[in-house]
Amino acid sequence: MYLRNCWYVAAWSKDVGARLTATRLLGENIVLYRRANGEVAALEDACPHRKLPLSKGQLKDDRVVCGYHGLTFDAGGVCVAAPTQERIPTGAQVRRYAALERYGFVWLWMGAAESADASRLVDIPNYDDPRWGRTAGGDMAIACNYLYITDNLLDPSHVAWVHLTSFAGAKADSAPLSIDVGAEGVTVWRWMMDVAPPDYYAPLVKFRGACDRKQHYECRIPSIGVNKSIFAPAGHGGPDKSLHEKTFVNISYNFMTPVDEDNTLYYWFQHRNTDPEDAAISESMNKGAYMAFNEDKEVLEAVHLGMKHRTTPYLDLGLDAGALRFRRLLKARIEAEQAAAAA
Ligand code: FES
Ligand SMILES: [Fe+2]
Repeated sequence: MYLRNCWYVAAWSKDVGARLTATRLLGENIVLYRRANGEVAALEDACPHRKLPLSKGQLKDDRVVCGYHGLTFDAGGVCVAAPTQERIPTGAQVRRYAALERYGFVWLWMGAAESADASRLVDIPNYDDPRWGRTAGGDMAIACNYLYITDNLLDPSHVAWVHLTSFAGAKADSAPLSIDVGAEGVTVWRWMMDVAPPDYYAPLVKFRGACDRKQHYECRIPSIGVNKSIFAPAGHGGPDKSLHEKTFVNISYNFMTPVDEDNTLYYWFQHRNTDPEDAAISESMNKGAYMAFNEDKEVLEAVHLGMKHRTTPYLDLGLDAGALRFRRLLKARIEAEQAAAAA
């Protein structure tokens, strides 16, 4: 089950050019290409004649020519040529998807293209602020349902077991977790007062000594993880304090695009309030993220198979509270959308 009337990352903008690129979102095959005017076109990747993927054809003058008998479609999915026929057959049309580009990504609206709403795109504050630094980010295919990744991103507990090498030294933390549930997502968070910054973050923090540290694990509808790590000088953190000028903030943005029920395309980048020009920092943070996400991938693919083929019941633990709230929220949104579509 998927929410359709929302934006999903389909590709990095840099990877979509004047060529046909096949992809798959929410169980639907889609062909992407960039038009001469720079806009991205996204069409159902199937010719209405014999369903040859259009991505196996050719791109000519912004139009897609089917590689079997030449039916030709414009960027709106309208058939504009049928070389074997006297007339273009009625019904020769493929589905068009609304696309937009922002934050280095091509996003597709998976509901009806006419209903696409750019104002519903996730907001990334400070994205254009030159004082903030960004990692190049990355992507990987994970052979699991996308909700196992949102579960994982709302679960700070797994770090002590899964990320033994990437976040080495991570200890199981006993500081209590709070859960906030809003209309658009769920956040699991805690402040840890007067602690040493972990090795991964220590070189990035601009003050010496102990810190007050906030872990903020947030998942937003439909499947966007926003993980904030905040380090204030000890005595300056906590829910009621405004940010001290030396506070270090790193935000991990995670975008999960369901390919189908068993596969997910996972995209991410990190955004920090320091060292905008420091390529070495960006690179080492990115390396750390890759390592960590590979550790998650190994576990989540095995979890997906374990749950799919289970022969005995499974149980939930207290640590699942945030993840379960998010699943419930998303399910309610999907059901409301489907009910509205049926009405
Ligand atoms: S399959 Fe595309 S024109 Fe025949
Ligand atoms: Fe993880």
